[in-house]
Amino acid sequence: MKLLVKNGLIATDTEVFSGDLFIENETVRAIGQELSCPEAEILDASGCYVLPGGVDVHTHMDLDVGTCRAVDDFYDGTVGAACGGTTTIVDHMAFGPKDCSLWHQVKEYHRLADGKAVVDYGFHGVLQHVHAETLAEMREIAQEEGITSFKAYLTYDGRLRDGELFQVFRAAKEAGIVIAVHCENHGVIQYLRETFVSEGKTAAKYHPLSRPARCEAEAVNRVIHLAAMAGDAPLYVVHLSSAEGLREVRKARAEGLKGLGVETCPQYLLLTDGLYEDPQEGLKAVMSPPLRKKADNEALWQALARDELDVVGTDHCPFRFAGEKQFGAEDFTKCPNGAPGVEERLSLMFSEGFMKGRLTLPQVVKYCCANPARMYGLYPKKGTFLPGADADLVLIDPSKRRTLTHASLHGAADYTCYEGMELQGVIRSVYLRGRQIVKDNVFLGQKGDGRYLKRGRSVLAQ
Ligand code: URP
Ligand code: ZN
Ligand code: ZN
Repeated sequence: MKLLVKNGLIATDTEVFSGDLFIENETVRAIGQELSCPEAEILDASGCYVLPGGVDVHTHMDLDVGTCRAVDDFYDGTVGAACGGTTTIVDHMAFGPKDCSLWHQVKEYHRLADGKAVVDYGFHGVLQHVHAETLAEMREIAQEEGITSFKAYLTYDGRLRDGELFQVFRAAKEAGIVIAVHCENHGVIQYLRETFVSEGKTAAKYHPLSRPARCEAEAVNRVIHLAAMAGDAPLYVVHLSSAEGLREVRKARAEGLKGLGVETCPQYLLLTDGLYEDPQEGLKAVMSPPLRKKADNEALWQALARDELDVVGTDHCPFRFAGEKQFGAEDFTKCPNGAPGVEERLSLMFSEGFMKGRLTLPQVVKYCCANPARMYGLYPKKGTFLPGADADLVLIDPSKRRTLTHASLHGAADYTCYEGMELQGVIRSVYLRGRQIVKDNVFLGQKGDGRYLKRGRSVLAQ
């Protein structure tokens, strides 16, 4: 199969130009101007920007949270991803049974995803304790499975203590593994949650009050120092939500910390804690960290515009509003944490970032495609059009408008946090490894088309 993509505006993380792509079978062979190949099929991209397929390195498909599971399995969730222009995900595993081997969840996640995912996929390992064998298992899994990143939490039941995390960082530094960390101060959150509940303050509006921005900032600061003490171990801060947290990141960068990657998500750029005022609607946005203030949104946009952050992920973790989210109707602490977002991300960043002039298009490509691939050992196979890359592409027509509604999305959740938002720019088509999988918001692929990705070394570990 030979395909020439012609007449479009090709967008990479460094430039936008009127040019062509030549694709052979699954791979980009050339990027340039006036490319020709008489026997190639022509894909006319007139009127569209052509972006590398999106890479979302923070999803939670089929996440088991104990009381229920995230409602998108690896099929529904990746159909949503595909329709939203994301052709690669790296999914965060749920905690396994107490004291389990790290291999337990690796096997479980292959069972959940293999034969189901419709876009290419990898996994981050999960650390929920540090036993004698844990660090050796981490190295083994990185080598054998290409799972070159592991996540640690500073809150929730499976959280690591500082001494454990320090050991993990030392081992990770030696092995070239990235440690992704959910940064929130557990002790303060636990105290505030218990206090609110004992005082009968159980409505959704107490959720953000139980997880103040300084809980994030303190934990970001702590984890930065732990990574630094381990010799600038590769550290990736997930879902940064606040101006206070950002201040800690800036400080670390100014001091020259190496190997630090930082992610934010569209919800922390576009939504605010005003959503929690309505006790019912507020449940839709119960997630950790919680939504913040307008000033936090602005600070994070500014940081993206100044190239101070690395990735825009989603933390896609959907539950049904008419179902699991109602566990929190009488008590926010019972509400499963998380919200959908994988399908919305690229359209939101294109419209609210690029079309509104907050970011350049190369910055959108950098945050949504190239850098996530770089951070997690997938570059230049994913996130770019360099010759040899997988031919994953998204065509976006900037002249078209769309109202974002749940009805137009494909995942299993029954709502979107962005209902009614007017977006400039509509995805016309999506290709995965040279094959069209989406046309005008209709999914054309097959269950199981996604391939498992053994990942290499992150740029953070070089
Ligand atoms: O609320 C969230 N974010 N749920 C998913 C788990 C996590 O903390 O990333
Ligand atoms: Zn998290
Ligand atoms: Zn998450």
